[in-house]
Amino acid sequence: MPLSSYSTVVAIALLFSFTSSAHTQENFVQCLNNYPHNINATSISKVLYNQTNSSYSSILDFSIKNLRFSNVSSKPLVIVTPLVVSHIQATIICSQRHGMQIRTRSGGHDYEALSYVAKAPFVVIDLINLGEIKVEMENNTAWVPAGASIGELYYRISEKSTTLGFPAGVCPTVGTGGHFSGGGYGFLMHKFGLAADNVIDAHIVDVNGNLLDREAMGEDLFWAIRGGGGASFGVIVAWKVKLVPVPSTVTVFYVPRTLEQNATEIIHKWQLVANKLDNGLMIRVNLERVNSSQNGKPTVVATFESMYLGGVDQLIPLMQKSFPELGLVREDCTEMSWIDSVVYMSQFTNGKSDYVRDPIPDVGLKGLWPLFYEDEAQGAVIQFTPYGGKMYEISESEIPFPHRSGNIFHIHYLVRWREEGEEAKQKYINWIRRAYKYMEPFVSKSPRAAYLNYRDLDIGVNNNNGNTSYSQASIWGLKYFKNNFNRLARVKSMVDPLNFFRNEQSIPPLKSKGLNMQVENLGAVNVFIK
Ligand SMILES: Cc1cc2nc3c(=O)[nH]c(=O)nc-3n(C[C@H](O)[C@H](O)[C@H](O)COP(=O)(O)OP(=O)(O)OC[C@H]3O[C@@H](n4cnc5c(N)ncnc54)[C@H](O)[C@@H]3O)c2cc1C
Ligand SMILES: *[C@@H]1O[C@H](CO)[C@@H](O)[C@H](O)[C@H]1NC(C)=O
Ligand SMILES: *[C@@H]1O[C@H](CO)[C@@H](O)[C@H](O)[C@H]1NC(C)=O
Ligand SMILES: *[C@@H]1O[C@H](CO)[C@@H](O)[C@H](O)[C@H]1NC(C)=O
Ligand SMILES: *[C@@H]1O[C@H](CO)[C@@H](O)[C@H](O)[C@H]1NC(C)=O
Ligand SMILES: *[C@@H]1O[C@H](CO)[C@@H](O)[C@H](O)[C@H]1NC(C)=O
Ligand SMILES: *[C@@H]1O[C@H](CO)[C@@H](O)[C@H](O)[C@H]1NC(C)=O
Ligand SMILES: *[C@@H]1O[C@H](CO)[C@@H](O)[C@H](O)[C@H]1NC(C)=O
Ligand SMILES: *[C@@H]1O[C@H](CO)[C@@H](O)[C@H](O)[C@H]1NC(C)=O
Repeated sequence: MPLSSYSTVVAIALLFSFTSSAHTQENFVQCLNNYPHNINATSISKVLYNQTNSSYSSILDFSIKNLRFSNVSSKPLVIVTPLVVSHIQATIICSQRHGMQIRTRSGGHDYEALSYVAKAPFVVIDLINLGEIKVEMENNTAWVPAGASIGELYYRISEKSTTLGFPAGVCPTVGTGGHFSGGGYGFLMHKFGLAADNVIDAHIVDVNGNLLDREAMGEDLFWAIRGGGGASFGVIVAWKVKLVPVPSTVTVFYVPRTLEQNATEIIHKWQLVANKLDNGLMIRVNLERVNSSQNGKPTVVATFESMYLGGVDQLIPLMQKSFPELGLVREDCTEMSWIDSVVYMSQFTNGKSDYVRDPIPDVGLKGLWPLFYEDEAQGAVIQFTPYGGKMYEISESEIPFPHRSGNIFHIHYLVRWREEGEEAKQKYINWIRRAYKYMEPFVSKSPRAAYLNYRDLDIGVNNNNGNTSYSQASIWGLKYFKNNFNRLARVKSMVDPLNFFRNEQSIPPLKSKGLNMQVENLGAVNVFIK
């Protein structure tokens, strides 16, 4: 085909796709306005932003926490920032009628940007303005809107009490919508488990636009959204959580040890004790490159970072007994309230995760260090977070998050960079891929397990058109969910059989053939269909 006619075809195709998407959008917006909203509610037209609206970019960019995705071309046609539940219900109904997909965004921390980037025409439901946190002191519970951040939750709790807390993540800007629905861990994990382990009720809008609480959604869907990811099942509006007791004084420390200061040997001992310490004491390790203070040559520093639920007088003897190799002294420690211990962490741009079931031998660690001396490792961090305590007491099938006993610690690989452009991005991402490949012999196998909240599309993705089979999705699904993946697919078949709520790693429904095969096992799943 001559070039000129080729470009004519392209131009016509572009024009067609433009006019058809503009048409789609017009009908979609009309549908939203016609939806029977409460007459007292703010009109939905006041919370709609299309691409010509002057506030569109600032609303979209506000929750893009990862600069890697600030420049993508596949942006939403419309952003809705709901103020009331009917704004969500209308968006779900009208999107299905007018051929739009939905991406729901809470804090926007998804490592692969699935909450605001999609290939098909789509709308973002951004929960940033929906609802307020209500801390209910009489029962030690709180209702938390899914658009609130964990930092806001910690702050609202601390306004009412200095001896209550919540066991979720460390970075305060993480949203509860993604974080609780994927698990959520932090320094209270050994004592109280994950954020998702402490959710006791939830409100969700399903594919039919129904607002359901725990009783109405039934135990299967309620199970699925505590660790299976919210995005496959509907739009979560709010969580009810159980607050946990914390002492009025906690102790934190932050102790760096370089290779010259025997970091390898200390990590060796850490691997033997970190998951068996007192439940109130969690010590994680951050590995990074630094210039040595003696000769300015690069070295690796292991920073032992900890929060202990108690005072320094109890902590020091505990450390002397269990982990004297670290050489912790009183001067390394700071006593403070639990809320002050919620420290701010910086932003990372690409992540992967692993689980370690047997200690990594010293030779394995020593082989890792040279990777830190490569150029791309300037902003790299490899973080070891120990399991143990409550995590070992909860069964693998209690919620969809399956990584419990048998795991000594969890690895989080991160790389940050400042240079712009595709070439830089590939360079740094390739570094993390090399580090991940290097670690393969030392981590969990068959499957090589991964944590949903450290989303990684390298481990496998769905087809673009939403017809991914269960067995194809198992490639990534078993890594995140192990044996819980099958139950997740069965719940999905019941609540969203046509797979409207989908993305690159959403749970697929079982196909009709699969469904028939599974029918005799469905007993428990049927219960929630009222
Ligand atoms: C800097 C940083 C620090 C982190 N620290 C920790 C940590 O200490 N511990 C830990 O466990 N994890 C941590 N994470 C990972 C974090 O838990 C996940 O990225 C989490 O999914 C983020 O949730 P979000 O609401 O901010 O993200 P979003 O990007 O808004 O959402 C993530 C996913 O959940 C879906 N979703 C969001 N809200 C809803 C809703 N209301 N209904 C249905 N689906 C929804 C989205 O569509 C998307 O698929 C960290 C991440 C970053 C970037
Ligand atoms: C709207 O608000 C008025 C005044 O508060 C109230 O009387 C009325 O019941 C409300 N209507 C609806 C449909 O909620
Ligand atoms: C942009 O959208 C907001 C919210 O819907 C609306 O209030 C505002 O008038 C719009 N601005 C323009 C320039 O259209
Ligand atoms: C965007 O919204 C405004 C009203 O806020 C409307 O006038 C305009 O036609 C819309 N643009 C598109 C492309 O739909
Ligand atoms: C506290 O729990 C009791 C008993 O379950 C219940 O009646 C009451 O409404 C609850 N209070 C709040 C604020 O949730
Ligand atoms: C490192 O370990 C060696 C041998 O166990 C010991 O002699 C040395 O003092 C240690 N160095 C530091 C800085 O602790
Ligand atoms: C470390 O040293 C190298 C060269 O020796 C230098 O280029 C670099 O800026 C130093 N980094 C820091 C963080 O000091
Ligand atoms: C954004 O895109 C432009 C043009 O495609 C490119 O020149 C620029 O480097 C990109 N910026 C980032 C941060 O990737
Ligand atoms: C999915 O759809 C594509 C194209 O529409 C088709 O080629 C493929 O066979 C389908 N796969 C399944 C598992 O149905």
